[in-house]
Amino acid sequence: MPEFFASTARGLVEPLEKELKDLGLKVTDKYIGGVFFESNWEGCYKANLHSRLASRILKPVLDFTAYQPEELYNQILRHDFTKYIKPTQTISIDASVTESMMRDQRYVAMKVKDAIVDQFRDKFGVRPDVDNENPSLRIHVRAIKNQFNVAIDTSGDSLFKRGYRKEVGEAPLKENLAAGLIMVTEWDKQSPLVDFMCGSGTFLIEAAMMAKNIAPGISRKRFGFQNWLNYEPEAWDKVVQEAMDAEIEELPFKFYGFDIDRKVLNNAKDNAKRAGVDDVIEFKKEPVATVEPPVEKGMIIINPPYGARIGDEDNLRDVYRDLSFTLKHRFKGWDAWILSGNKELIADLKLKSTRKHFVFNGNIECRFLKYSMF
Ligand SMILES: C[S@@+](CC[C@H](N)C(=O)[O-])C[C@H]1O[C@@H](n2cnc3c(N)ncnc32)[C@H](O)[C@@H]1O
Repeated sequence: MPEFFASTARGLVEPLEKELKDLGLKVTDKYIGGVFFESNWEGCYKANLHSRLASRILKPVLDFTAYQPEELYNQILRHDFTKYIKPTQTISIDASVTESMMRDQRYVAMKVKDAIVDQFRDKFGVRPDVDNENPSLRIHVRAIKNQFNVAIDTSGDSLFKRGYRKEVGEAPLKENLAAGLIMVTEWDKQSPLVDFMCGSGTFLIEAAMMAKNIAPGISRKRFGFQNWLNYEPEAWDKVVQEAMDAEIEELPFKFYGFDIDRKVLNNAKDNAKRAGVDDVIEFKKEPVATVEPPVEKGMIIINPPYGARIGDEDNLRDVYRDLSFTLKHRFKGWDAWILSGNKELIADLKLKSTRKHFVFNGNIECRFLKYSMF
């Protein structure tokens, strides 16, 4: 049975493990950046289509130790890369190198590329070109302390690119991070969600897709494995058909998004439409200071600005003060989850958290905190 590796953001490995198990996949191991599972190709297609948390589904093909360029070159030749694509298709190498004798990752990528194109040329007399934007076969090479892992990328483009988001506001959350955080809250998928600063709407769109059981990859145009010679279109069609049959048309509750910026709200509406969830999300222009509960009961989830990328400190202090006031005075009895990368601003809320989760939003270490408004 082939083994696959689902990669994700730091802090989301446990939720990803649970998600893959819930999809019926056999998880064999986990690692800092992801989860290993064993499955046939149909299971790999399923993970690509259904995983809300994975960044990519990789298929590891080689593990070895190499100190010198020739060793690297010869080790790469041990795997037959010509079985995946035709020589007229394209490749791209993504290399990262840590604490190794060969220190330049561009050089490592070049050596790997040389070995692979030589393999094609020897066999066919023709070599694949490199296309870093849209390759038919993307190959990932990781070296840590001279220990190399090589994997082929079954996803192609990152899975957080669902295809529904064309326009974004400032500092949007990655879709898989938003989905992972929703899973951390243990939201029941049956009660209203409210985001006071929804920006391009990522939390609400991801949550609405979960509630309507819409597979996150259903509107993506293409996955890496679809370019390959071993692609099994019948298995893929079956996985897609099953996903579409399981979608839920109507929900008995809604999602509510507020933001101060009309332009980002328009983007959010367009995104929700493309994701097939515009019928269940209501967006409204409203500053956080004056937001009122749109329904009697539900859960709040917010990613306020935190200064690292947008907004200045003084202005942000006011925003957090308004947020705190609205929560305390108008949302009694609600649970609120707040994601912030700024400890000082979080302290300004003057609220006591009842749960705390650490996660990386890009390079920023963030806290995801739960507050119960008594
Ligand atoms: C970090 S972004 C949210 C990003 C969002 N989670 C997404 O994925 O697109 C913060 C949002 O807070 C909004 N905002 C800033 N000050 C606000 C205020 N006083 N009231 C309401 N929204 C505000 C901004 O317009 C911005 O869209």
